[in-house]
Amino acid sequence: MWVINVTFQEEFVEEVRNSCDIVEIISEYVDLKKTGKNFVGKCPFHNEKTPSFTVAPEKQMFYCFGCKTGGNVYTFIMKKENLSFPEAIEFLANKAGIVLPQPDDSAAISQKGRIKNIILEILKDAANYFYYNLIKTESGRHAFEYLIKRGLSKEIIRKFGLGYSLPEWDSTKKFLESKGYDEKSIESAGIIIKGKYNNYYDRFRGRIMFPITDVMGRVIGFGGRAIADSDSQPKYLNTPDTVVYNKRKNLYGLSIAKRESSKKGIIIVEGYMDVIALHQAGFTNTVASLGTSLTIEQAKLIKRYTDEVYLAYDSDEAGKAASIRGMDILNDIGLIVKVIMFPEGLDPDDYIRQKGREEFHNKINEALPLMDYKLMTLKEGYDMSSPLDKRAYISKIAPHLLKIKSFVERDAYIRKISETLGIREEALRIDINRYSKKNQYGNTIEHKKVLKTHNNKNNAKFKIMPAHIKAEWDLINLLINEDQVYELIKNNFSLSDFIDDINREIAKIIYSLKNSQTEISPAEIVDKLGREEYVKRFSHIVARDVIYEDAEKTVLDCIAKIKGYKLQQELDNIQQLIKKTEASTKSNEHELNKLLVKYQEILERKKSLKFGC
Ligand code: CTP
Ligand code: MN
Repeated sequence: MWVINVTFQEEFVEEVRNSCDIVEIISEYVDLKKTGKNFVGKCPFHNEKTPSFTVAPEKQMFYCFGCKTGGNVYTFIMKKENLSFPEAIEFLANKAGIVLPQPDDSAAISQKGRIKNIILEILKDAANYFYYNLIKTESGRHAFEYLIKRGLSKEIIRKFGLGYSLPEWDSTKKFLESKGYDEKSIESAGIIIKGKYNNYYDRFRGRIMFPITDVMGRVIGFGGRAIADSDSQPKYLNTPDTVVYNKRKNLYGLSIAKRESSKKGIIIVEGYMDVIALHQAGFTNTVASLGTSLTIEQAKLIKRYTDEVYLAYDSDEAGKAASIRGMDILNDIGLIVKVIMFPEGLDPDDYIRQKGREEFHNKINEALPLMDYKLMTLKEGYDMSSPLDKRAYISKIAPHLLKIKSFVERDAYIRKISETLGIREEALRIDINRYSKKNQYGNTIEHKKVLKTHNNKNNAKFKIMPAHIKAEWDLINLLINEDQVYELIKNNFSLSDFIDDINREIAKIIYSLKNSQTEISPAEIVDKLGREEYVKRFSHIVARDVIYEDAEKTVLDCIAKIKGYKLQQELDNIQQLIKKTEASTKSNEHELNKLLVKYQEILERKKSLKFGC
């Protein structure tokens, strides 16, 4: 076998990883089913009857509770396709349609800015070309008529710069070449694709084109919709991630929506057509996520312009799961989140066409606040006349309730739930608090029971482990999940304080990443860990959720546990020595005293741990 002798730039490794959704990739090998926010299936790496293989889309990680294999999308492909790390990168880059960097062109990196400008020029010219095709050519007429039939005005078509790509294999390529661009650059812009025989052809053919712009209004990519709905081709094709386009970091329509968003908030919909229909009806504060569930990057982008968002997703099941995930991301960043609900089967575009702008306005006013929406959707499937179901429901909503920072607000919800469930407020409060205190480390008896009722095999599989080790795991999880606790941990807990060697090595890598960048994702850490046993352990740690109310307090608790354990060990050792010294025939008064003083000293230190560390 030949070996690829390349080391890829870190940005490239990251770009490819970000472009390959782990759920999508693994689905090609494993039959995955959604359970809560994760997916489960039968492990492809060992033989099993009941699924213990979990994929977490939010973390872009997988872990098998059976054979303890885990990692990110690269780890998976390396194992499954038997590839080295660089080979796995190449394999996935090809899948995602990302052009591999040429081996020895480090000079090209310094030219990144120049290339970026060329790509932006290409995209702008392409957008103009598509617009021309739609408006002026005979071939584009049916596309234009289709849009008119769907209720779009000529003016809105112009405002969004909609276009049409001709059905020929290479008309866009030819047009751009006639403007002087070379194939490589056009390919880097995501406009053409290299075929089997190294021939290039247009990515978008015979499609209605939606130019995607960045916040400054520059065209950075396209969505292309097939005109006729058919099974033989995807409804939408989108620009792959390129030097200028990353679907996780942009929102369709934001360059226009940002103008009015500070007053009205931002409406988030799923589709291109929803954005355009709403803008046409006057809701010019509407944006769409680009065919993914909302990301942290998108949430941050929104937060720049407004404090309030309305989620207006389709009413189908997928919409619900996606909106809960998206809501949490938006909420966690400090946005006020509300959900607009539509009758079964309608998306915002359908709704506004059927009912008009007044009705849509009412929908905005009736939008449900985050917690109310969760309480409602999470109730589905439970029979509230059954006490067991009630308990299961409460266990499901407890983490969400505990997330509410304001006690007044949380109290109001507890009152509300107690009324709807017919449970005394006091009882409810006790149950929910149980989640905040005991359950932050999992294995209390109560928690286990709940897990069993949920038949959550994966969580139930956590063996009972010593408290100090568990605390180390939690610290690592907190380091990844909560940006703000890094300083606190770093200042109070050094690497040498870790008891477990593997945990220490993992923390070392996280610390070094944290020193150079603010945001790190679990999947990114995997690439830096290197050794398989580290990847396995890290994946296991990440696969285990930590429930906590107050991150800072949990951090301090964990640190106190670990340091406490160490000091206790020292105490035990000294005690042994004291016993020995006492028993010894030539008892050494001086030695004994020294030991007793030391014992006392350590005991004091251990006691003081409880008051901060
Ligand atoms: N999408 C995609 N690829 C697909 C299907 C959907 O990228 N194969 C993304 C697009 O951004 C699309 C959005 O998901 O706009 C929502 O999909 P859908 O509701 O099916 O499309 P609409 O935009 O509502 O299009 P239409 O109303 O024309 O069916
Ligand atoms: Mn639609």
